[in-house]
Amino acid sequence: MDALRFHVDDQPVQVSDLAPTTTLLQWLRASGRTGTKEGCAEGDCGACTVLLLDEDGSHLRAVNACLVLLPMVHGRRLWTVQGLARGGQPHPAQAALVATSGSQCGYCTPGFVMALTEAAHRPELKQAPAQDWRLDDQVCGNLCRCTGYRPIRDALRQVAGSCPDDVVAPHLRAAPGGDARASLHYQAGDERYLAPVTVEGALAALEQHPDARVVCGATDLGLAVTQQHRRFPTLVSLERIPALRRLDVVAGTVHVGAALPLCDLEAWSEQGLPVLHRMLRYFGSRQIKHRATVGGNLCNASPIGDLPPVLLALDAVAVVAGPGGQRRVPVRDFFLGYRRTALAPGELLVAVELPLPSPDTLLGAYKVSRRRELDISAVAAAFAVQLQDGAVAWARLAFGGMAATPARAAQAEAALHGQPWGPDAVAAAQEALQADFQPIDDHRGSAWYRRTLARNLLLGFFEETRQQPQVPLQPRHTGTLMLPGGDR
Ligand SMILES: Cc1cc2nc3c(=O)[nH]c(=O)nc-3n(C[C@H](O)[C@H](O)[C@H](O)COP(=O)(O)OP(=O)(O)OC[C@H]3O[C@@H](n4cnc5c(N)ncnc54)[C@H](O)[C@@H]3O)c2cc1C
Ligand code: FES
Ligand code: FES
Repeated sequence: MDALRFHVDDQPVQVSDLAPTTTLLQWLRASGRTGTKEGCAEGDCGACTVLLLDEDGSHLRAVNACLVLLPMVHGRRLWTVQGLARGGQPHPAQAALVATSGSQCGYCTPGFVMALTEAAHRPELKQAPAQDWRLDDQVCGNLCRCTGYRPIRDALRQVAGSCPDDVVAPHLRAAPGGDARASLHYQAGDERYLAPVTVEGALAALEQHPDARVVCGATDLGLAVTQQHRRFPTLVSLERIPALRRLDVVAGTVHVGAALPLCDLEAWSEQGLPVLHRMLRYFGSRQIKHRATVGGNLCNASPIGDLPPVLLALDAVAVVAGPGGQRRVPVRDFFLGYRRTALAPGELLVAVELPLPSPDTLLGAYKVSRRRELDISAVAAAFAVQLQDGAVAWARLAFGGMAATPARAAQAEAALHGQPWGPDAVAAAQEALQADFQPIDDHRGSAWYRRTLARNLLLGFFEETRQQPQVPLQPRHTGTLMLPGGDR
């Protein structure tokens, strides 16, 4: 049984007696590092943001310490707001926030400092001037209740991409130790945390511990720990399995490992599959995307998960491994009911296969939420339409938030089939959508609102692709749609 070893602010640390469900934030604060704050303990406010160095030392990533379980940092190096200054000099991100008066009560400030520090070292932000949406994206996981965002944004603009690591902060790039890639078997009391490095090891762990729960980035499962105070006798983590963190494009199909962090998928998809990038842009925050995975998004089987509509529209396939070997399940058959998947006990999702659409396929992805960023969808939609001689050869219209599972709109698709791609066919499909779904009323939207959104998103897709068949990076139908009349 291993002890947990990691570095915090360049100090080596060893832990052997704390439950595996102890969060990094709880440990930091209990060990006196109270510069890192707790606001929500559910990934929404960013007050707990710290920087974690990748296993291979390639990237510094801002993460929510409240959703990182302590064993997840075994072998890793991390920095808190208390470890940034060097030789009495603040980090440039700290200096910039001071210079722009970007802090009043200061509660959010440690989190912003860490988000800005990540920005200072991000190669993507080195091209000047950084695009506005990239700056918004950088800090959308941090809330400030009193200063106002203008001075914070000014500070961000000053430091974004400004720090060549080798000159300004070599200490932030100290190589991680060998523990960062090794398997881990940690136990404290009657709770254990197993992190194998192969799929076979994970399957064996599940067989040996039938009560085990799989975990990857813990951006969902961590909420069960922090909000419901759940404990798990055995957690089997997939995040140390290199084979599950790959992205390969082979013969027109993208193979996305189930444990690939969404930030890596987002970076690839900006050029590789813009329709997916468009959805990922509005998925959670940077902190969340640094930890969240494709596997976690599919396997939690939320009816309002944002990736399933895109995967359904692209006709993706889930690759499942179990004691009997591998099997391939089309994503349209993966969701069996509310939060139920086709995974049998002892099985894992290992990858998702995305067939790359042909360049002339019309594609769109839309997310509607009460707030534009870091919010849960009321309705998400993704569409793929193939035209032949101006008529619809096939259409895949997929929605989240309209039923107990993410689902395709079979009747609306049928209404489009063979029809000229024009207003009449779209109007017929809009009508058919009413029969496809009986959405629920809840605090994110009434059934009327969701039905109206679904109709309007389809119309918006038609208008958007009519004007510009290539998917633009910035969607025009994201954010709360204002609809005239009705019970919104
Ligand atoms: C602040 C915040 C914002 C969020 N924003 C969004 C958003 O905008 N859109 C959205 O869709 N979601 C959002 N989420 C939800 C969450 O981030 C995603 O669902 C994410 O993809 C989960 O991935 P994970 O690796 O963290 O999953 P985990 O929490 O590790 O696991 C989730 C579930 O899946 C199971 N599981 C994980 N991987 C596998 C696997 N390979 N095989 C079998 N079972 C597996 C686990 O047992 C668990 O039940 C948000 C969450 C938070 C806290
Ligand atoms: S405490 Fe709010 S995001 Fe962690
Ligand atoms: S400075 Fe008070 S919450 Fe941001």
